[in-house]
Amino acid sequence: MPDYSLKIRRYNPESGQPAYWQQFEVDLPAERSVLDGILRAKYDQDGSLSIRCSCQAAICGSCGVRINGMSRLACNTKLGEAAEDAPNGAIVVEPMGNMPVLKDLIVDMDAVHWKKVQRVVPWLLPEGDPPDREYIVEPESMIDITQSMACIHCGACVSACLSMEVDPEFIGPAALAKAYRFVGDPRDAFTEDRLLDLAEDPHGIYDCTHCFACIEVCPKDVAPMNQIMRLRRRATSDYGIKDGNNGYGHEKAFSDLIEKYGLLSEAQLLPKSYGDGSLIRAQVKPAALKELTAKLPTVIRGLRSGKVSPKTALIHRKLKDQDQIRRMYKEVESHEDRLELNLYIVGDSDAEEEGTMAEGGQEG
Ligand code: SF4
Ligand code: SF4
Ligand code: FES
Repeated sequence: MPDYSLKIRRYNPESGQPAYWQQFEVDLPAERSVLDGILRAKYDQDGSLSIRCSCQAAICGSCGVRINGMSRLACNTKLGEAAEDAPNGAIVVEPMGNMPVLKDLIVDMDAVHWKKVQRVVPWLLPEGDPPDREYIVEPESMIDITQSMACIHCGACVSACLSMEVDPEFIGPAALAKAYRFVGDPRDAFTEDRLLDLAEDPHGIYDCTHCFACIEVCPKDVAPMNQIMRLRRRATSDYGIKDGNNGYGHEKAFSDLIEKYGLLSEAQLLPKSYGDGSLIRAQVKPAALKELTAKLPTVIRGLRSGKVSPKTALIHRKLKDQDQIRRMYKEVESHEDRLELNLYIVGDSDAEEEGTMAEGGQEG
């Protein structure tokens, strides 16, 4: 039977001692889980080793940890697989990130994850008298939110979120995926208010930096970043919400620049963002002038280091096959209804033939 080494981060705040690493050797088959390994170490070697767990079947969401640096469910990660990525032969197990550690591998989910979920008002807000029997809705509209409903609140995405590392106040991937669950629900009567609230919050939907980490780690394919992008599209395209964080202007400027050049022009992005896509309108926005002035030292550093030159900054080249990008824009914009797909919507064969469908949780 293979022998696996688990290098586990230990911490007990009551001891007054700093965190330390402890190595355990466990004899278990490769297909047993990292959680099995941790529990074996606890039962056989050190009963004080602490981890939260329950179902041991990737359902309850309680055993989130970092294994070799990746946020994962310990019960859903095989020892054999983890050992393949283990640095120096020992599987490294740490508590999840972005949340305070209570003891060993147990983090304070209430202080961060659940607080943020509460922030998005995670319950239905219908208006008027309830129907005599059940609410009747189109099946498609419920399928649309099925993906966000698959969340088991393990916190792996929260642990992996790079924006939360920089801004702990960011509402975060799990809570925003939960927000989409209600924004997308046709029975909810406060869709616009919810979107306005999340767009205007400086730590809301525009605080995500599209790093994809939450998509990569989610064990239930909720794809939180995709739900955040859907919230943005609903806010901008459906409700025309121009937020105080300039998220609307930034997205418009970004999209317009790619359509025009095929490549992002950093020099134009900031002023155009403040002008809602227009360099002219940006001239009269005091916030734009303030931001541009604040960025001047960065620009000067770039010029001095040779990273940018006045020529490359001011004259932006187009991609050679720029016409292909424009063609893609035209194709997407020619659809009267916005086409959105997720794991649970596989689409129809016509669309597949036209190459407008994407599989495996991608959006078209
Ligand atoms: S994509 Fe956005 S929400 Fe997801 S981990 Fe990255 S910054 Fe966080
Ligand atoms: S979105 Fe995925 S990773 Fe995040 S809490 Fe829910 S199940 Fe876990
Ligand atoms: S113990 Fe329930 S998800 Fe791992």
